[in-house]
Amino acid sequence: MELKAENITFSYHKNKPILKDISLSLNSNQIIGLMGDSGSGKSTLCKVMAGYITHYTGEVTIDGSAIDRKGFDPVQLIFQHPEKTMNPKWKMEKVLRESWIPPQELKDTFGLKDNWLTRWPSELSGGELQRFSILRALNPETKFIIADEISTMLDAVTQVQIWEALIKHCKANNIGILAVSHDKDLLDVICDDILYFNEINHL
Ligand SMILES: Nc1ncnc2c1ncn2[C@@H]1O[C@H](COP(=O)(O)OP(=O)(O)O)[C@@H](O)[C@H]1O
Ligand SMILES: [Mg+2]
Repeated sequence: MELKAENITFSYHKNKPILKDISLSLNSNQIIGLMGDSGSGKSTLCKVMAGYITHYTGEVTIDGSAIDRKGFDPVQLIFQHPEKTMNPKWKMEKVLRESWIPPQELKDTFGLKDNWLTRWPSELSGGELQRFSILRALNPETKFIIADEISTMLDAVTQVQIWEALIKHCKANNIGILAVSHDKDLLDVICDDILYFNEINHL
């Protein structure tokens, strides 16, 4: 499968364009990196590609067809701050179950401990919460993952664990990854190719 963004143009305010004529594509068997300056519009592009922003011009397609965003979205966005994406009044078991019930083996791969499931989001660390948000995104209907600075706030050991588990699962299930980061060393290790945001944004 191929996820394609074509000629994406978008601005939050009329006289301040953020994205101009951006095109990129990735295949299911690829991990593509995206690097760029802070505030340049990377997260905005991620939101366009994952269907969070809809009033853009251009096209986002999978294998040439518009993406059905009504049911479970095959393009899943994982954010930098997992706590912002979770209902503070839901225990972790419910947070996860909202998407799917992962097999025990996959929970083990991500080092998810059973006793975390009965806790509130506020009772887990950032790294622990991020394991949940990644697992939640790995629903069997997911075809592409957009990982927006997902390990930026984690220590080096947790960062490696999380990326190894995510890449292993995506390779085995033919899920493509767009990995957004300002950490060139990380992208050099995990990516097949790296795109530079200022080179694909025609402002
Ligand atoms: N919801 C929003 N409304 C208005 N401006 C926004 C909004 N979200 C982000 N921006 C602005 O858009 C620009 C790009 O932000 P962002 O896409 O988060 O950049 P990056 O992820 O590359 O750091 C910034 O100037 C930011 O302040
Ligand atoms: Mg960002």
